[in-house]
Amino acid sequence: MAGDQATATASPALRGTIEVPADKSMSHRALILGALAKGTTSISGLLEGQDVLDTAAAVRAFGATAERCAPGEWRVTGGAWRSPPTAIDCGNSGTGVRLLMGAAAGFDLEAVFTGDRSLTRRPMDRVLAPLRTMGAEVEASEGGRLPVRLRGGRLCGIHFRNDKASAQIKSAILLAGLRSEAAVEVLEPAPSRDHSENMLRAFGCDVEVEETADGRLVRLGRQRSLTAATLQIPGDPSSAAFPLVAALISPGSNLTVRSVMVNPLRAGLFTTLAEMGADLRFLDQRSMSGEAVADIAVRSSPLRGVEVPAERAPSMIDEYPILAIAAAFARGRTVMHGIGELRVKESDRLAAILAGLAACGIEAWEEGDTLIVDGLGGPPVGGAKVLAHDDHRIAMSFLVMGLASERAISVDSANMIDTSFPGFARTMGSIGARIA
Ligand code: S3P
Repeated sequence: MAGDQATATASPALRGTIEVPADKSMSHRALILGALAKGTTSISGLLEGQDVLDTAAAVRAFGATAERCAPGEWRVTGGAWRSPPTAIDCGNSGTGVRLLMGAAAGFDLEAVFTGDRSLTRRPMDRVLAPLRTMGAEVEASEGGRLPVRLRGGRLCGIHFRNDKASAQIKSAILLAGLRSEAAVEVLEPAPSRDHSENMLRAFGCDVEVEETADGRLVRLGRQRSLTAATLQIPGDPSSAAFPLVAALISPGSNLTVRSVMVNPLRAGLFTTLAEMGADLRFLDQRSMSGEAVADIAVRSSPLRGVEVPAERAPSMIDEYPILAIAAAFARGRTVMHGIGELRVKESDRLAAILAGLAACGIEAWEEGDTLIVDGLGGPPVGGAKVLAHDDHRIAMSFLVMGLASERAISVDSANMIDTSFPGFARTMGSIGARIA
């Protein structure tokens, strides 16, 4: 990729077998839980994207040891967290900062949290409000933004209704509650990804889950101390989404992405693509560190527009940019409901998707929290330079679009792709994609 810009050009059929980098959500959690646990946790296949490296630096600043023994192989030794000497800079990562603030809140320490231009624009109140209820002292910058100064300590209990279906909010509360004996409960009218629950159990912590008339109730049990674990992190479905959609829209493609995590609370895109007519097969289904994993085989397929219900949004919240690309190639209209949260991700993703699609000759618009894309049933014109707004998933989505459009598509900034998918251009190149 030349400088920060990247260009994707019409490519031949995409063929081969690849792996994608490890799951970002699990990687953050593995480092944070390892840093809270007694003993030494071994992690293999950790995502070494910048977001996760920032979390590794953060847990070190809190007093844990986090060492890289070989590519993807890490050892983390936990202990009591202490006040870090300087501000904790979480870079671009909302997951990193929100989970770290939760974890730190249970300790007798003071810390300042900050991040890059994008992260300092994102709302933190959603996590700070429940942490305050639990007794942490927090001071945010204007509008509930970073930098945030947090004073942790002995916390009390909480019963929190997670109306945003946010795993980051739920996880921050659960992590804050680990050093308290009080009742800590999160009620989820719509369940969000449950990697924190699964991984806490792998570290020996009791997490109870009850299906109630009001939704899923997640509760910390009595046993809350963590003991070191051995973890292997599977491929990230949110990263697999890019080569999979690229193969679907590039005629003649036949691709397998190996070892992808397929937790049902992350699999909304796969359900949607199947409804659109995608030829997707889930092979060799197995389990890795408590999570369902499969090899996903895909063949290019004619797609049709569908209606995506709001209830599905939590299970595919990071996948709407790439779904919008699939929708542009599909025959007919795709309507995606309940996706207002896209406005407060690494960029305003709704605005970025709409501008990029318009530049590439696709009609799309928003109606409240609904995104509507009129698909062409064939390749768009392309030929545009799309603004990625320093957002990795916007950049990858429009590069994928360029692979099967009539004319090349460039994105103005592609460096941020490394936050979640280091080696994206190389991996895509290995199956025939032309990205430079
Ligand atoms: C994540 C949760 C989601 C998702 C993010 C990762 C996590 O955010 O968008 O990329 O690892 O918990 P929300 O909790 O804000 O929905």
